[in-house]
Amino acid sequence: MAAAMAGGDLERALRRAWFPVLRAEDLGGPRMVTLLGEELVVFRTAAGAPAVASNRCPHRGAGLALGEVHGDAIACPYHGWQWRAGDGGCTRIPSLADQSTIPRNFRLRTYPAEERLGLIWTCLDEPLSGLPWPSELDADEWALGCGEPIPAPVGIAAATENFRDVAHFPFVHRVSMGEVREAVDRLDVRRDGTEVWLDWPFPASSGAGSVWDREAPVIFRYHLVAPSFVSLVMDYGAGGKRVLINAPSPHDRESCTIFWVEGVTADFDGPSLQECIDITSRVYAEDNPILATLRPREVPFGTTPEFSTASDRYTLAYRRAFLEFVSRANGEVPAGAGVAGSPAAGGG
Ligand code: FES
Ligand SMILES: [Fe+2]
Repeated sequence: MAAAMAGGDLERALRRAWFPVLRAEDLGGPRMVTLLGEELVVFRTAAGAPAVASNRCPHRGAGLALGEVHGDAIACPYHGWQWRAGDGGCTRIPSLADQSTIPRNFRLRTYPAEERLGLIWTCLDEPLSGLPWPSELDADEWALGCGEPIPAPVGIAAATENFRDVAHFPFVHRVSMGEVREAVDRLDVRRDGTEVWLDWPFPASSGAGSVWDREAPVIFRYHLVAPSFVSLVMDYGAGGKRVLINAPSPHDRESCTIFWVEGVTADFDGPSLQECIDITSRVYAEDNPILATLRPREVPFGTTPEFSTASDRYTLAYRRAFLEFVSRANGEVPAGAGVAGSPAAGGG
């Protein structure tokens, strides 16, 4: 594994990634969220457009999430100054008799806001690339729904590793998945720069009534986009497809909220979308107590000795993709330049 990475490099790089900060359905009035240590206010303008800005009012530092929306601006709860979504311009200072004298340089720090997959996304610095999108979804019609976001006391890389790790199924998910074969066949991992793919035939399960326990064999098709976006298409062939999208969003280096989206194709002959969401909630509930015990709370990237084996091929490829994201975001590798070679099992 590459040399240890300084914390500042990592945080600076992650500021260039898009992260979800809230479910769209949870955005009624203004809400405060924390992304990479920054307190942000998320709100909708009167026209319904999502907006993201610093939660800190530039006048005296009051928290804007307690304020109100007026048209396309958010009004501070302290002295009522109003700040426009988008460019952050100050549009009203109630204590000022003549509003035309508001200095033009009074500005609230704002960030881009996008709504996609039922989530509100933002990026704290110049985005390294566009919003992540699972291209596998393009070939089918999907019904999608967001699960309840999950706070987790680990970093985004640790949460991402857990989501796409297949060797933990027979241990952590014995109840939800039933019997899963312990030995992991050679993982056919493919990495291209910051993206990693793995197609994995799920070993036949005998789980009572589990969604994986179907007559048709299911292929798990993972597609990961570093730093932390993973789609998992569960392909049942003629039985249709399910998808589970996992997108941990960092509060800081050692804690995150896992946003997730479930979906089924129209021809999926398994449980309903809502039943799939309920099943996945139970799966996450099995993971979380284990995640909470991880020390360190984030992938150590070479600073702590670990042992890896062939079943960790995908994990090691992910770590390379993650480090490549960090290098590119910090301007050390030109964006678009791939790194040759695929990861070797057991290597670091
Ligand atoms: S602190 Fe926000 S208007 Fe004064
Ligand atoms: Fe799991």
